[in-house]
Amino acid sequence: MSAAEHVTDSLNKIAELDLDLTQTIYQQYFTRCPAASELMHYSDPHMRGRMLEQTFGLIMDPSLQGEDQYFRWEVGNHLMGYGVSKDMYADYLESIRDCVKGALREAWQPQHESGWQLRIQSLLDELALLN
Ligand code: HEM
Repeated sequence: MSAAEHVTDSLNKIAELDLDLTQTIYQQYFTRCPAASELMHYSDPHMRGRMLEQTFGLIMDPSLQGEDQYFRWEVGNHLMGYGVSKDMYADYLESIRDCVKGALREAWQPQHESGWQLRIQSLLDELALLN
């Protein structure tokens, strides 16, 4: 299985457990990155849910990266339109990974760890290339 498939497997397990991690993830993210908390202070739960859904989709699908693809377009929007800075991404992606890991407990496997690691690194590498 590819890194993305291992990530997908971990998220399927979350779905099977019928867990909604949205609040936990944003709480952890805002603790790690207070500047993001300030920026998202007024965003409503629906917006946060949609952002997280899109992020899950992106982590599970490497074809959304690269020239003219979703990730670059979304980063452009965030940097230009929302006042987000590049250094806010690592904490966000790692908070998501850590909350999934924490929720899965013993169902979290080494291939989940390496899959998430590779997908996060790939996104951060691409981010570093962008202006
Ligand atoms: C790969 C990572 C990310 C993806 C895919 C993503 C996706 C999105 C999407 C789809 C929206 C619009 C939601 C809607 O209104 O329907 C959004 C809004 C927003 N995102 Fe992100 N996001 C990401 C990372 C971040 C990070 C790291 C920050 C840092 C604080 C951030 C801050 C915001 C803000 C401030 C808004 C607008 C909130 C508002 O309209 O009130 N995002 N994001």
